[in-house]
Amino acid sequence: MNHLIAPSILAADFANLQRDIEMINHSEAQWIHVDIMDGLFVPNISFGFPVVEAVKKHAQKPLDVHLMIVDPDRYLKAFADAGAAGITVHLEACTHLHRTVQAIKELGCKAGVALNPHTPVAALEDIIEDVDMVLIMSVNPGFGGQKFISNTYKKIEQLKSMSADKNPDLLIEIDGGVNLQNAPQLLAAGANVLVAGNFVFSSANQLATIKELVEL
Ligand code: DX5
Ligand code: ZN
Repeated sequence: MNHLIAPSILAADFANLQRDIEMINHSEAQWIHVDIMDGLFVPNISFGFPVVEAVKKHAQKPLDVHLMIVDPDRYLKAFADAGAAGITVHLEACTHLHRTVQAIKELGCKAGVALNPHTPVAALEDIIEDVDMVLIMSVNPGFGGQKFISNTYKKIEQLKSMSADKNPDLLIEIDGGVNLQNAPQLLAAGANVLVAGNFVFSSANQLATIKELVEL
């Protein structure tokens, strides 16, 4: 039981966001996952700084900010100022990924790199030593509630063996379609952070669902 659970507030009730943040505060989840979508990198727009700042005001757990935006360098400082503990950028959205990762660290945040489902783990070969976390997308980013892509298991195993040599402390986060059916196999493959949006927020007992995920 040494993995982390990060409920995604993309699936929260935005008209009752404070209530839903407090639910996470009272739960056994370790992080709060915050999805930022710009309508360019992904075909959807989520929310921006005023919402992140409002979440931060009530959150008692670290904000795990997932930027699904083009050219994220423009906004790293703003997300750090808004309260991000970790900032994850997409490899596909960064021309100078090494520079972007260093910039995140210089802001005092944990640095993550996310891979779309079609991006091979091998693309991380020359950046893996520099990052705190890799986020493997297990759906195409842009929407909550999509079906889990099972090719993810193979990618986790590949990343786990790459990190064993080069970065043994690497966090491996899985995002999209995570539930109690696939979570045990994700953890067995080497994942150590699980994001869960709809599975948590659409369940009848959210606290109990989080507890079940934590206790796997
Ligand atoms: C998808 C987001 C995910 C999303 C996960 O683009 O990055 O974090 O909130 O939601 P579920 O768990 O419902 O797939
Ligand atoms: Zn996400």
